[in-house]
Amino acid sequence: MVNFVRLCSFALVLVPTATAFPAYSSLAGLAREELDKILPTLEFKQPAPPPGPLNDTGVKLINDAAHPWKAPGPNDIRGPCPGLNTLANHGYLPRNGIASPAQIIAAIQEGFNMENSFARFVTYAGHLVDGNLVTDLLSIGQATKETGPAPPAPALVAGLDTHAVFEGDASMTRADTFWGDNHSFNQTLFNELSSFMDKFGNGGYNLTVASEFRWQRIQDSISTNPTFGLIMPRFFTVYAETVFVINFFVDGRMTMNRTLSKDDALGFFQRGQFPDDWHRSGVPSSTEGIDTVANAHHIRPGSNTNGVNTYTPDPTSADLSPEQFCLIYVNFVNRNVKSLYPNPTGPLLEALNINLQRFYDSVADKCPGQQQFPYGKPQ
Ligand code: HEM
Ligand SMILES: *[C@@H]1O[C@H](CO)[C@@H](O)[C@H](O)[C@H]1NC(C)=O
Ligand SMILES: *[C@@H]1O[C@H](CO)[C@@H](O)[C@H](O)[C@H]1NC(C)=O
Ligand SMILES: *[C@@H]1O[C@H](CO)[C@@H](O)[C@H](O)[C@H]1NC(C)=O
Ligand SMILES: *[C@@H]1O[C@H](CO)[C@@H](O)[C@H](O)[C@H]1NC(C)=O
Ligand SMILES: *[C@@H]1O[C@H](CO)[C@@H](O)[C@H](O)[C@H]1NC(C)=O
Repeated sequence: MVNFVRLCSFALVLVPTATAFPAYSSLAGLAREELDKILPTLEFKQPAPPPGPLNDTGVKLINDAAHPWKAPGPNDIRGPCPGLNTLANHGYLPRNGIASPAQIIAAIQEGFNMENSFARFVTYAGHLVDGNLVTDLLSIGQATKETGPAPPAPALVAGLDTHAVFEGDASMTRADTFWGDNHSFNQTLFNELSSFMDKFGNGGYNLTVASEFRWQRIQDSISTNPTFGLIMPRFFTVYAETVFVINFFVDGRMTMNRTLSKDDALGFFQRGQFPDDWHRSGVPSSTEGIDTVANAHHIRPGSNTNGVNTYTPDPTSADLSPEQFCLIYVNFVNRNVKSLYPNPTGPLLEALNINLQRFYDSVADKCPGQQQFPYGKPQ
């Protein structure tokens, strides 16, 4: 029996996997035996250091001749984030939708003027749970049949589309995972958003629209999605995304009463397209306005625990109060990252430790002395 088992696992190692594991697919959540098969097929790439802040943070023409919009081709990956889809469609990110964290940070700074430490925070968070740490590549969405062979089940190919770590429920223009497609633009939801723009924003998207629509989408999910979840990190991103629309999508030349028109919103959300002559904001930004949205209608982090309309707060989840900011970091590392990578070894462990360090660096000045070492301090 023992010999038989040994023989079988030996045979497993020798039989080449029928289809190569894509270099951009996440290794998160894979069992030891799968990792043992896949890791030798991947080339370890020393992660490039993150870019520093922009030298010139001014208002700037971004939809320029060097960055024309092109529809993604059949082999190009797009995902749930209209910001990253737009950068890829205009060539600020590789048009195939696969990039290193350093490339993503450079692109979100250049294209949208995202503030440097926040750009590093969101990018390394996304990469740690949804990227391939060994190859230093992250796909901005889900690979489809056209974008290459499916890796061996149950590998997660979903990239940033992976549910409940970064991607989550109650998006503005994307349906909940419970309904199947969690990443494509959904016209029904955009029409709802559009009616909120008419009702609360005089036809445009401003902070009042953000506040009211955010609340409506949460109520909708509570009452229709039995699996609805709204705990960290989703509790943060669900609010952050509503103010990204104002802080990043509104033309930088509009400095007062910043409002995004319906047409421009449709361009970003549906086609991943900058408006003609679009200029980025002249202010390095992150989540300015998030408290206004969160305080307009108060809810604690939680989930439907027993079917629809059973929303129950989870007191162990951080909330948005400034005193709990470091708990977002601490829980993300010890819960999300650790559960996806329980026992990493070799190059995977090395890559994890490098990326965890980069992630901590992004919050170090806010959370001094609170660095977490889920795999022990690296030598
Ligand atoms: C300045 C840069 C960015 C902008 C302007 C932006 C904008 C947005 C907006 C507006 C949404 C909400 C979509 C909706 O609710 O319909 C969203 C969703 C999302 N973004 Fe971004 N984003 C940016 C950077 C990033 C980065 C760096 C990552 C990860 C590396 C990321 C990952 C995601 C994901 C996974 C979602 C889907 C969350 C969900 O389920 O709704 N984004 N983004
Ligand atoms: C800012 O300028 C310095 C010095 O020229 C350069 O090394 C650095 O890469 C620049 N930063 C960015 C983000 O381009
Ligand atoms: C769009 O979202 C609505 C509301 O969540 C849902 O009922 C519908 O099935 C979605 N449509 C598609 C095509 O996914
Ligand atoms: C997100 O949607 C895609 C496409 O419908 C689906 O294949 C994937 O499983 C979903 N993500 C999860 C983890 O449910
Ligand atoms: C949003 O626009 C509406 C309509 O113009 C206005 O009443 C409301 O005060 C605006 N909200 C903010 C925060 O400016
Ligand atoms: C803010 O902008 C909206 C849309 O452009 C406009 O309808 C509204 O009157 C403006 N409000 C103020 C106070 O300027």
